Amino acid sequence: MTTIAKGLEGVVFTESKLTFINGTEGVLTHLGIPIQEWAEKSTFEELSLALLDGELPTAEELAKFDAALKANRAIPDQLAQLIRDMPKGVHPMQALRTAVSYLGLLDPQAEEITPEARRTISVRMIAQFSTIIAAVNRTQEGQDIVAPRTDLTHAGNFLYMLSGKEPTAEQSRLFDIALVLHADHGMNASTFTAIATSSTLSDMYSCMTSAIGALKGPLHGGANEAVMDMLDEIGRPEKAEAYIIQKLDHKEKIMGVGHRVYKNFDPRSRVLRDYAEHVANKEGKSNYYQILETIEKIIVDRMGAKGIYPNVDFYSGTVYSDLGIKKEYFTPIFALARISGWCASVIEYSQNNRLLRPDAEYTGQTDQHYTDLKDRK
Ligand SMILES: CC(C)(COP(=O)(O)OP(=O)(O)OC[C@H]1O[C@@H](n2cnc3c(N)ncnc32)[C@H](O)[C@@H]1OP(=O)(O)O)[C@@H](O)C(=O)NCCC(=O)NCCS
Repeated sequence: MTTIAKGLEGVVFTESKLTFINGTEGVLTHLGIPIQEWAEKSTFEELSLALLDGELPTAEELAKFDAALKANRAIPDQLAQLIRDMPKGVHPMQALRTAVSYLGLLDPQAEEITPEARRTISVRMIAQFSTIIAAVNRTQEGQDIVAPRTDLTHAGNFLYMLSGKEPTAEQSRLFDIALVLHADHGMNASTFTAIATSSTLSDMYSCMTSAIGALKGPLHGGANEAVMDMLDEIGRPEKAEAYIIQKLDHKEKIMGVGHRVYKNFDPRSRVLRDYAEHVANKEGKSNYYQILETIEKIIVDRMGAKGIYPNVDFYSGTVYSDLGIKKEYFTPIFALARISGWCASVIEYSQNNRLLRPDAEYTGQTDQHYTDLKDRK
């Protein structure tokens, strides 16, 4: 009797030293360090390098990596033109997928898959994802692309390229924390997809394009945008309770809650909630925040026993909205952070590569024979 692991649940196909998750306790660590410490003390740049190299960098290594990211922020003119020529109204995840694939056409090193080449390309892509996403946003809004600056942090430069205005230190730091929280998350669907592609000895651009496609779906990266759709549909805090109760009674899914691994609070959602609360206390509680507070209470009361709690996507949208980012860009921002985890995981797996080739239980017919077209009904 074959046991089918639906959704590959519980299937362990490789080892990794990058990320540990204990879903029952709500624990997430990178290189053994709790996510709360990364969020409080580190930066996206440092976490990206730590993931790529599998250890905390020295100050010198970090400065070198930071300089390499800055030096690689600009995108080729041909890619900028492709982004300008994209049809109006496309979803930015479609645009990102196409742009990253095209970037591979412009990189003479694209097909190299040695560990050194994979790492060099990773640094370029970590730097350029943010420029691509900002350029898509600008051109889709009918505005000129804003060239990157090299005197801003990765997070600050992205916000600058989006709006053309230099963000405050607080805005940059808030966005940086959001990037840290999303940089890696173990063997999720998009990381697995990137690894599956790399396991065929395919190139980094193909790996990242595949991963973007996997992240795009509403059960994975697309959930943060779906949360904002839900908040917009609810509209006012006093409507939240009836809306959620009705959905739960009809066994409909609430976006931003539940997780394949966490059966407790997702620790990232706690960090984001604290920041959302901080902004709410400073600037007055937004409708969004009040609605989320109500939903969280109902979910914990009614679904907590089943292990359904708010996940990372629950509060991220309000934080991004406060930064003036449109909801269509929430999933691309997820990609802009997760690129580090994707690259690091591909590099780690490549060191001990084996072609991924799972199996499916055959439940179709047997002993059949070919019927000519003319004899078929
Ligand atoms: C993430 C997700 C796909 C995980 O799914 P899963 O591990 O397969 O969870 P299950 O579907 O087994 O859920 C177990 C039970 O909780 C319920 N449940 C799970 N997620 C729920 C949600 N978001 N809203 C309401 N009920 C939910 C299921 O209906 C199921 O109920 P049942 O026992 O009565 O059948 C799922 O929780 C979901 O769709 N969440 C919304 C999308 C989202 O926020 N995704 C981002 C993840 S970071």
